[in-house]
Amino acid sequence: MIKIYTAPMAGVTDYTYRGILRGFSPDLVYTEMVSVNAMEHASAKTLRTVLRIHPGDAVQIFGHDPALIARCAKEIRAMGVRDIDLNCGCPMKKIVNAGNGAALLEKPELIRAILLEMRDALGADCNLSIKIRSAYKGEKKYLAAGKIAEEAKCSHITIHGRTREQMYTGLASWEPVRELKQEISIPVIGNGDLYTAEGVFQKAEESGADGVMLARGILGYPWLIRDIREYYAHGRVTTPVTDADRIGMALFHTRQAQKDNGDRTFVFELRKHLCWYLKGIKNSAFVKNRINQTEDYEEITGILEILKQETKADAGT
Ligand SMILES: Cc1cc2nc3c(=O)[nH]c(=O)nc-3n(C[C@H](O)[C@H](O)[C@H](O)COP(=O)(O)O)c2cc1C
Repeated sequence: MIKIYTAPMAGVTDYTYRGILRGFSPDLVYTEMVSVNAMEHASAKTLRTVLRIHPGDAVQIFGHDPALIARCAKEIRAMGVRDIDLNCGCPMKKIVNAGNGAALLEKPELIRAILLEMRDALGADCNLSIKIRSAYKGEKKYLAAGKIAEEAKCSHITIHGRTREQMYTGLASWEPVRELKQEISIPVIGNGDLYTAEGVFQKAEESGADGVMLARGILGYPWLIRDIREYYAHGRVTTPVTDADRIGMALFHTRQAQKDNGDRTFVFELRKHLCWYLKGIKNSAFVKNRINQTEDYEEITGILEILKQETKADAGT
């Protein structure tokens, strides 16, 4: 069985959604990326909000200053985290122009310096990893980064088979995953365009990847983790996800978000998750519209309860 990791996704894999993903027992769950610059200037209280973690969560950081990164990594380790990933793949202009994310791919020596300094600060009992893209400014970058990750004794490397210039468009190529797997001895995790269990199986088989990292495929569909396990065990998905499951999860997520956040406003962050869960469900366009117009927790749960009853009645006819 391959490893199943859930991706760092800014604005998506927040504390509540990570809790839901954990319910499906993936091998590793990543936080959203965290800026080491922001960490350095944050108060202890802000830090506890930004870095609110479930036991076992892996934290992804971004930055480019080895000493600062090492200091922050040490603080993160002190919170009980055992897996820290360095973002070497974010393609956003703001990030790249500051020398972070995918811009690091242009400076493999800097990646090496960062990883070595992190290792120095953390000792051997913390897993380090990097997440990269296949190319930057039209040049293939994954082999150099892969060799450095191997040298620095990373626990794994994740490669998203899109170039920085592709951003999130076009198809991800899994050829770099296959090539990297042949060239280095540490586990290689493939990422990009993983939407179905069958697709995951094919891409993992063809590339030889040790694991997969799920990203847009789990927006509103945490069941993809279970689907993959069933596909590997039985050659097909044996537990189909129903509309009732999706509405039930939307309700669960809403209630959990309230528990997790108390009085803090959370509806804005919640809305997108609800729209993803409800995608394709009969009568859901009207419901999504209403959810997007209210900030009231009780109203949202009320709307979802009605949709649940209507869907139950429809299924019974
Ligand atoms: C909304 C969103 C936020 C993301 N945030 C991050 C992030 O914080 N760190 C990171 O390394 N990648 C981030 N990514 C990239 C994903 O982790 C993943 O590499 C990418 O979506 C490709 O996988 P996919 O084609 O299966 O979606 C983000 C992607 C999306 C869609």
